[in-house]
Amino acid sequence: MGSKYILETKQLNVGYGPIHVIYDLDFKVPDGEVTIVVGPNGVGKTTLLKAVMGLATVYSGEVHFNGENISDLPPFERTKLGIGYMPQTGNIFSKLSVAENLKMAAYTVSDADMIQDKLEFVFNLFPQLKGFMPRPAGTLSGGERQMLAEGMVLMRDPKIMMVDEPTAGLMPKLVNDVMRQLAAMAEETGLPIVLIEQRARRALAVGDYAYMMRGGRFTFEGDAEGLLNHPQLSEMYLGAVEVRELKTIKE
Ligand SMILES: Nc1ncnc2c1ncn2[C@@H]1O[C@H](COP(=O)(O)OP(=O)(O)OP(=O)(O)O)[C@@H](O)[C@H]1O
Ligand SMILES: [Mg+2]
Repeated sequence: MGSKYILETKQLNVGYGPIHVIYDLDFKVPDGEVTIVVGPNGVGKTTLLKAVMGLATVYSGEVHFNGENISDLPPFERTKLGIGYMPQTGNIFSKLSVAENLKMAAYTVSDADMIQDKLEFVFNLFPQLKGFMPRPAGTLSGGERQMLAEGMVLMRDPKIMMVDEPTAGLMPKLVNDVMRQLAAMAEETGLPIVLIEQRARRALAVGDYAYMMRGGRFTFEGDAEGLLNHPQLSEMYLGAVEVRELKTIKE
């Protein structure tokens, strides 16, 4: 097919029932690169990933993966094709052990040897996980949980990995660890990654390509470095500060 984009949406309109969230979106993800999507709260970043997975109502438009129109496929078929998705919340089973989580995650892989191979691959990337295997996943720290959640997606041998705000709710010190892990993963695996982040500057520092989303539309598309130096980015931060101040005043 020869498209340089592994994932592409065409004029995508998405919502929840009558609530229209995403408008005419052309989202293009270059193969083998790290693509960052930033934007304030509630603009539709998670909704975009859900639409790619088949988990939100698409009013019109198409989703293409590896040059194939997958718009009509149910979510599990998209997973089987290799679209890896780490949701923003609820991405691990906290009562189950780390080992059980990783094995459950490999439900699309039927071959036992292959599961073992994937486990080795995940341990290679995240050596700490090996020592956590018998522990209930709910006892892991925030950063360790993110590691497990990423490991779970990798167990399914994805061809792309979409990660929704992996640093949400983490202490600043852990944010750097998680970003570093992701950058290392991208480097070692060569997997194309879509990373949604509120911590825009740090994410853009590890990204190649970038989008800024506002009100369900892209207001910037280009090199990650270009967005780092763009006034829109400072505006977004200023916006966030304003919201925080308003909240404090109200309290
Ligand atoms: N299941 C749902 N039903 C109705 N509206 C929804 C649903 N999920 C999200 N929305 C609305 O859609 C809009 C976009 O939400 P979305 O979760 O995509 O934002 P986001 O950019 O990921 O925000 P954040 O940075 O806070 O995660 C919001 O106004 C939200 O309230
Ligand atoms: Mg979100």
